[in-house]
Amino acid sequence: MSDLRPTPEDRFSFGLWTVGWRGVNTFGDPVRPVLDPVDAVHRLADLGAYGVTFHDDDLIPPGSTPAEREAILRRFRGALDATGVRVPMVTTNLFSHPVFRDGGFTSNSRDVRRYALRKVVRNIDLAVSLGARTFVCWGGQDGAETEAGKDQQAALDRLREAFDLLCAYVLDQGYDLRFAIEPKPNEPRGDVLLPTVGHALAFIERLAHPDMVGVNPEVGHEQMAGLNFAHGVAQALWAGKLLHIDLNGQRGVKYDQDLRFGAGDLKEAFFLVDLLERSGYEGPRHFDFKPPRTEDVSGVWESAAGCMRNYLLLKERAAAFRADPEVVTALAEARVPELSEPTLSPGEGVADLLGEELDLEEAGRRGYHFERLDQLALEHLLGAR
Ligand code: GCO
Ligand code: MN
Ligand code: MN
Repeated sequence: MSDLRPTPEDRFSFGLWTVGWRGVNTFGDPVRPVLDPVDAVHRLADLGAYGVTFHDDDLIPPGSTPAEREAILRRFRGALDATGVRVPMVTTNLFSHPVFRDGGFTSNSRDVRRYALRKVVRNIDLAVSLGARTFVCWGGQDGAETEAGKDQQAALDRLREAFDLLCAYVLDQGYDLRFAIEPKPNEPRGDVLLPTVGHALAFIERLAHPDMVGVNPEVGHEQMAGLNFAHGVAQALWAGKLLHIDLNGQRGVKYDQDLRFGAGDLKEAFFLVDLLERSGYEGPRHFDFKPPRTEDVSGVWESAAGCMRNYLLLKERAAAFRADPEVVTALAEARVPELSEPTLSPGEGVADLLGEELDLEEAGRRGYHFERLDQLALEHLLGAR
C-alpha cells in the first residue's frame, strides 16, 4: 500500500466549525474547550490539509468591535501565511442568532431579510480579501414546521431575490466568486427550503445569473432523504454545477450525523470517490463533520486525520478497481460503455427507428451481470483483490 500521508495537492479542507465543534447537542452541554482558529490552522497544516473554511461568526465573534475584528484577522492571516493554508471557501452564519429563528433570506420578517443580506455582503468582502473563490449558502433556518406559516412560493421568490442581488453585487465589485447552495432536507427546521440537490439545481436555472451559482452537496444531507449521494453528485457534475462538496458520513434516514468521512455508508463513499476522481472535479475535498462528543481534543484530530486517510484509501481502492482487467471485461459484459453511445446514429431520425425490429425474445432473455461487477467492486473495497 502506498504512502497515504495527505499533502496540499490532495486539496483537503476543513471548516473551523468542524474541528472546533464543542460537542453541544440538543440534550448535552459542550464537552470540549474553545479552539483558537490560529491553533486550528496550525494543526490542520501539520496533518497535511490544504485549506480552512469558516462562517463569519466562527472567526469573528458577533459583537466584536472594528478594532477587535482587525486584530483577529491579523492573527489569522499570520497563521495562513506561516503555514501556507488557503481559504478556498467562506460561508455566513444565518442560523444561530435568535433573530434568524424563521430563517435569513426567507424570514417572514422583511427587516430580518435585509439584515441577513447585509451580513452576507460584508462577509463576501472578507471572503474575497482572503482569496476565496466559492461562497457557500446553506439555508440553515430557512424552512418551516407548518404549511400555514410559510408561503412556499413567496419564500422561493425571496430566495431568488437574494441570489440575484448578491450576484449583481459580486459582478459590480468585479469579484471572482461563485455561490454554492447547500441543500438539506430537514434540521434544524422540520422541512428546509431546497431540500435536495435536484431542488437546488432546478432553482438555480430560474436565477438572473445561473452561471454564477452551483451546489455544495453534503453526503449526509442527501442520505438523510434516503437518496443516493453519488447519483446526486453525478447530476450536479452533468449540469456543470459541482462547485464544492461537503464530505462526511451518515447512517440512513435519521438526524444529521456528520460522522467522519468513510463512517456510515462505506460502499457509497467508495463510488463517490471513484466518481470525483474520474470526473475532473478540481475543487476542494471539504470535510464537514462533527467529531462525536465522546472524543476529547486528541480524538478530534484523530477523527480529522481519519477523514483524509479514508478518502485516500478509497481513492487507491477505486483506482485499483478501474485498472483491473477483469473489471474492464465485466463492465463490457454489463454493457456499461454501450450507454455512452447515442441511441441514434448521426443523421438518423424517427423513420430509421420505425423501420427496424427488435428480437424481443432475445433481448428479453438478456442478463446484465451487474452482480458480478458489483461484487468485484466490493472485493476491491475490502482489499481482497
Ligand atoms: C449541516 C451543514 C452545515 C453547513 C455549514 C455551512 O451540517 O447541517 O452542513 O454544517 O455546511 O454550516 O453553512
Ligand atoms: Mn450536515
Ligand atoms: Mn455542510
